[in-house]
Amino acid sequence: MTDLNDIVDQAKAAFSHAATPADLENAKALYLGKAGRLTELMKGMAALSVDDKKSRGAAINLAKQAIESALNDRRKALANAELKLQLQAEALDVTLPGRQRGAGGLHPVTLTLERIESIFGSMGFEVAQGPEIETDWFNFTALNTPQDHPARSMHDTFYVEGGTESAPHLLRTHTSPMQIRYAVQHVKKYRQASGVDDTSPLFSGDMPEIRVIAPGRTYRVDSDATHSPMFHQCEGLWVGENVSFKDLKFVFTDFCRTFFESDDLVLRFRPSFFPFTEPSAEIDIQFQQGPLAGRWLEVAGSGRVHPNVIRNMGLDPEKFIGFAFGMGPDRLTMLRYDVNDLRLFFDGDIRFLSQFQ
Ligand code: PHE
Repeated sequence: MTDLNDIVDQAKAAFSHAATPADLENAKALYLGKAGRLTELMKGMAALSVDDKKSRGAAINLAKQAIESALNDRRKALANAELKLQLQAEALDVTLPGRQRGAGGLHPVTLTLERIESIFGSMGFEVAQGPEIETDWFNFTALNTPQDHPARSMHDTFYVEGGTESAPHLLRTHTSPMQIRYAVQHVKKYRQASGVDDTSPLFSGDMPEIRVIAPGRTYRVDSDATHSPMFHQCEGLWVGENVSFKDLKFVFTDFCRTFFESDDLVLRFRPSFFPFTEPSAEIDIQFQQGPLAGRWLEVAGSGRVHPNVIRNMGLDPEKFIGFAFGMGPDRLTMLRYDVNDLRLFFDGDIRFLSQFQ
C-alpha cells in the first residue's frame, strides 16, 4: 500500500504549496479529478479478485478521505488567509479623530450689526428694517433733497423698473429714508391713540419719543478701499421735545466707546453738510493700533434733524426736535479688526472670513 501512502503525501504537499484557491482546485484535479491519480487506481481494480477488490477498495477509500480532508483543511486555511488580508486592507483606525465639517460662522459685518443692535437696544432704541428698493420721495425729496438739488449728485445709484419718470424707483443710497418711514408710522400710531380730533397736518400733541436705529444694505456708484457699491449703513434717529446736539454727541460717543471697549477712544465731530440736518457733522474715529494707527476714518454723518424733515414726518417743528446719524458698520468692522480694504468683506474669500470666527 505504499503507493497509496505516497499519493496521499504528494497530494498533501501539493495542496500546501497551492497559494491561491485556483491553484488548489488545479491540484485537486490531479488527484481526485476524472483523470486524477486515485481515479486511475480505482479503474485499475476491475482486474482484481473479489477479495482483493474489497481490501484494495477500502484502502483507496481511506486514501481518498485523507486527501479530501487535507483539501478541505487547505481550502479553509486559504479562505481564512484571504479574509485576513481583506480585513487588513479595509481596517478602520477607530482611534483616529473623526473628520469634522467646519462649523461655519457669522460674517464680520453681521457680528458688527448684532453688536450695534445690542448696544443701542440697551440705550432704549428700537430696531427697524426698511426696503432696499426705495422711491425717490423717501430717498431724497422727503429728506429735503428735491430734484436737481446738487447733493443728489453724490448719491448716484441704480434706478430700477416700477416707478415713473417723476417718481422713479431706485436702490436706496442710504438708510435715511427710514427716518421718514419709521417716524410717519410712529406719529400715525400715537396721533390715533391720543384720540384728539386734530386735523392739522402737523402733529403737536403728546407722543413718546422716537428712538430707533435702522440697519441695512445701501447702494452707491463707488468703489475703492473704503467704498463698495453695496455697503451697510445703520441709521439712528431720536426725536422728542428736548433733544439737542449735545445728546447726539453723548449717545454716539458712548456707543463707540462701548463698541470698541475703550474709554479713551478719540472721536472727532467735523462740521459738514447734509440737506436733511442742520447743523451737520461728520464723525471720525482714529485707528488705535496696527499699521493704520493714528489715521482717521469717517464712520458716520450726523446732525440735528432739519425742520423740513420734521415736517415730512408729520410733526410740528416748533415742538419737536431731534438728531439723526447714519453710520457705516463696514467701516466700524475695519476699525475693530484693523482691516485696510473694505471690499475684502464682500469678496466672499473664506480664508479671509474664517479669521473672524
Ligand atoms: N445719510 C447720510 C449719508 O449717507 C448720513 C447721515 C445720516 C447724515 C443722518 C446725517 C444724518 O451720507
